[in-house]
Amino acid sequence: MINVIGLGYIGLPTALMMASHGVEVIGTDYNKELVATLNAGKTTFKEDGLDDLFQDALKAGIKFTTEYQVTDVYIVSVPTPYDKFSKKVDACYVVAAVKDVMKVCPKGATVVIESTVSPGTIEKFVRPVIEENGFTIGVDINLVHAPERIIPGNMVYELLHNNRTIGADDKAIGEKIKELYASFCQGEIVVTDIKTAEMTKVVENTFRAVNIAFANELAKICRHDNMDVYEIIKICNMHPRVNILQPGPGVGGHCISVDPWFLVGDYPSLAKVIDESMKTNDGMPDFVLNRIYEIMKEKGMTDITRVGLYGLTYKENVDDMRESPTLQLLESQERHLATGLKVYDPFITKDVVANQYHSLDEFLDSVDFVVVMVKHDEIKKNMDKLKGKVVLDCHNICSFDEVYHI
Ligand SMILES: NC(=O)c1ccc[n+]([C@@H]2O[C@H](COP(=O)([O-])OP(=O)(O)OC[C@H]3O[C@@H](n4cnc5c(N)ncnc54)[C@H](O)[C@@H]3O)[C@@H](O)[C@H]2O)c1
Repeated sequence: MINVIGLGYIGLPTALMMASHGVEVIGTDYNKELVATLNAGKTTFKEDGLDDLFQDALKAGIKFTTEYQVTDVYIVSVPTPYDKFSKKVDACYVVAAVKDVMKVCPKGATVVIESTVSPGTIEKFVRPVIEENGFTIGVDINLVHAPERIIPGNMVYELLHNNRTIGADDKAIGEKIKELYASFCQGEIVVTDIKTAEMTKVVENTFRAVNIAFANELAKICRHDNMDVYEIIKICNMHPRVNILQPGPGVGGHCISVDPWFLVGDYPSLAKVIDESMKTNDGMPDFVLNRIYEIMKEKGMTDITRVGLYGLTYKENVDDMRESPTLQLLESQERHLATGLKVYDPFITKDVVANQYHSLDEFLDSVDFVVVMVKHDEIKKNMDKLKGKVVLDCHNICSFDEVYHI
């Protein structure tokens, strides 16, 4: 039996996937409301294919509880934020979860850390917790790192098809956990050591962050000298060895906007390109805010309450708003003691910010200037409704001529 600890964006689909592929699974989360929702037969976030997977897992007998279970494999999938000052990984959730696992786990159990951590975190923070509980690692308790790569919006497909990495002290234990993941994963699963697995996960997200920052920096250079960044990227990408990403209003979520900081925190004198890249990406919401003021000035607009931000989530077609560029932009605006921007997102049904709308038409009726922060399918299908408005298109998705870009 597998006890999955932490039933959020990663733990829940993983638990459901294993259960629906014949593995006996109990999911544990200390959030009582979340567990009650799951036990009431409802999923806790929107994701393509998740509800069907949930039904399959329920039929297969998955259980949800707030209690840690006595079992032989634990999969820990709890948050790993970064410390805003030191930039290092904040391992407190992982440590707390492993401490609680130690209270119930029998000798011979394997603890799999799925949470993303920086290289050396398991050595520095997790091993001591196990040893303090009187267990000898490799004899009484086995330790494995199995970082997750899936992307919100395509989680179910990617769980099934992505390649994976398993890090273990002992190759045989690594192979055993590989078999567990192979119950559902059709991709290649590489077994390596723990520190290499930790580093690969962080490096993958850092690669993305640096490449996004490059595109964002090009956007700033092009804006400064009145060049068309999209045309330039399109032409450059016709070169056989160039593949530049698209610029955007910033980076959010719990991976690309977080994990690269771990390397900056741990290797401050070495991770220079990464540090600058993260600052460039983090500066994009402010850059967009300045563009809004610039365009308002050009258009002779003075009323900020007639400007609306389309999209609150950190990427298209998901309901995850964590670290989203829109939230960063609103915070920045508040820091400048200004408020009044209107906001709408079809995926955010609860009121989370001031001046938030819950209908596209009402939102559009209330503004003259729309800033497309997120390229949800909804806005792509409703392009016609933007005609006649001033539009700042942060993703280059608007098909009409009269449009501003970042
Ligand atoms: N969200 C993503 O797209 C993504 C992708 C790949 C990897 N990751 C990594 O996966 C890990 C989990 O991220 P997430 O997005 O699922 O986080 P999340 O916040 O959505 O979920 C974490 C869950 O863990 C629970 N929890 C925290 N501490 C607990 C404890 N001690 N005992 C029981 N439950 C506990 C919380 O209540 C929450 O429900 C992080 O390390 C993250 O970096 C996330």
